Amino acid sequence: MAKEKTRFECSSCGHSEPKWLGKCPGCGTWNSFIEIKPAKGSSTRPSAGGRSSKGSADASRPQKLSGISTEEGTRFPAGQSEIDRVLGGGVMRGASVLVGGEPGIGKSTLMLQLSSTITADGPVLYISGEESAAQLKMRADRLGIKREINVLCETEINSILKQVDRLKPVLIITDSVQTLYNTDLGMVAGTVNQIKFCSSELIDRAKLYNCPLFLVAHVTKEGNIAGPKVLEHMVDTVLYFEHGASDVRLLRAVKNRFGSIDEIGLFKMSEKGLNQVDEPASLFLVKRKGEQPAGTCTAAVYEGSRVLMMEIQALTVPAKGGLSRVFSEKIDGRRVSRVAAVLEKNLSLRFSDQDIYVNVAGGIRIDEVGTDLPLALALYSARTGIQVPSGTACSGEISLAGEIMPVAHLDRRTKTAADMGFKNFVSPENTSGLKDSINRIFGKN
Ligand code: TYD
Ligand code: MG
Repeated sequence: MAKEKTRFECSSCGHSEPKWLGKCPGCGTWNSFIEIKPAKGSSTRPSAGGRSSKGSADASRPQKLSGISTEEGTRFPAGQSEIDRVLGGGVMRGASVLVGGEPGIGKSTLMLQLSSTITADGPVLYISGEESAAQLKMRADRLGIKREINVLCETEINSILKQVDRLKPVLIITDSVQTLYNTDLGMVAGTVNQIKFCSSELIDRAKLYNCPLFLVAHVTKEGNIAGPKVLEHMVDTVLYFEHGASDVRLLRAVKNRFGSIDEIGLFKMSEKGLNQVDEPASLFLVKRKGEQPAGTCTAAVYEGSRVLMMEIQALTVPAKGGLSRVFSEKIDGRRVSRVAAVLEKNLSLRFSDQDIYVNVAGGIRIDEVGTDLPLALALYSARTGIQVPSGTACSGEISLAGEIMPVAHLDRRTKTAADMGFKNFVSPENTSGLKDSINRIFGKN
C-alpha cells in the first residue's frame, strides 16, 4: 500500500499543497500553511449499540421508505420559545447546529441556558474547551441553573468521543469547535482541517445516538470565519448570534434543513443571563420625549412570522464632486438607490447629487419588500426637512413606475401598528401611488 505523505494546508481557507508555500494560491493569505501529518487510525465510531436502532450494516443497504422509523428527526422543545422559533419549531433529534458569533456576544451563556431548559430527559453533555469547570459552575450559579449537567473540560477529540459513547447524551454542546484537536492531525487546534475532522466525528455521533449537537464557533468582526465557514456545509442548521442595540441580542438562522430561515430570536442580556423578549413588536421603536425628527419613518416589518415596528432613518447631504453615494448597512444599498430613483422621477426631487445615509434603529438588518414605502417617506422627509406626522407608520412595496404594491400579511401589520398606538397606517390599501401617499402624508394636494 502506498505510504500517505505529509501535506501542507492553508489555515485560512483549507487549500492543500504537497509543499510549503509562502502565499496560499487559494486565498492569497501569506504564511498560512501548516504541516498536516497523515492520519494513523481511522474513525473511532462504534459500529452499533447506541441509542439509535441503525447499525452500520443496515445503513449501507437501501431501505424501504415505508419501513423507515420516524423516531429520528422528531423534535422536542428547547424550553425557550425564541430558540424553538429559530430552529423551526423545536430541537431536532440527531441534528447538528452551528452557533456562530463574535467573542463575548453570549454564545456560552445561551448554550448553558439551553442545557438546562431542554425538555428531553437524560444526560446533557457540555464540552468546554475554553472555560474551566469552576468558571462554568460560577456562570451556572449566576444563571440560577438547577439541572444536572455533565461538564467535560477536554479538547482532544478521541477522549471526548469516549465520554460521548459512555454517556449517550440527549444533548451535546461543544464550546467551541476551534479548541478541538486530534493528535493525528497535529497539535494545533483551530485549523480548518482540525475543525472539519473533529466536527464530523461529533456530527456522526449525534446521528448515531439520535441526539442534537450544538457546535459553538467564534466568528470575528473582520470576517475571520474560514474554519466555521467550512462547517456550514456539514451541519444541518447554522445560527448566528448578533448584537442589536445595547443589550439586545438576535439569533438568526442562515441555513436550516428543517425550517425557514426567516425567523429571528430576540433576547436581552441581563445580569442573570439572556432573557427572551416579551414585547418584540415595540422593541425597536425609538422612545423620544420630543417630536419625531425629519428623516425618520416607522415601518411595520414582517420578520419571520411576526410583525416588528422599526424606525427607518435617512440623511441626505450634497455629494462631494456631485457623485452620489449610498451608505446603508441595515438595508441593501441597491434598494435604497432604487427607491431614491423612483422618488426622483415621480416627485422631481433630486437625489442623484446627494450622498444618502440610511440606518435602522435598533441595529437590525431588514430585507423585506414592505420597507420600500417607509424608506421612501424617510428619504423624502430627509431631503425636504418636512417631518412625517407623528403617529404614522407604513408598509408597502414600490414598483419602478411609482405604484405601491400589496405586501403579505397587511392585516397583521395594520393591527400591530394600531396596538402600538399608530393612528395613521399608510399601506397599499389606502393609497393609489407613491406621489399620492407623499402628498397626503406631507399635506400637499
Ligand atoms: P459569553 O456567553 O461568555 O460570550 P461568548 O461565549 O459568545 O464569548 O458572554 C460574555 C458576556 O456576557 C460578558 O461580557 C458578560 C456578559 N454576561 C452578562 O451580562 N450576564 C450574564 O449573566 C452572563 C453569564 C454574561
Ligand atoms: Mg464562550
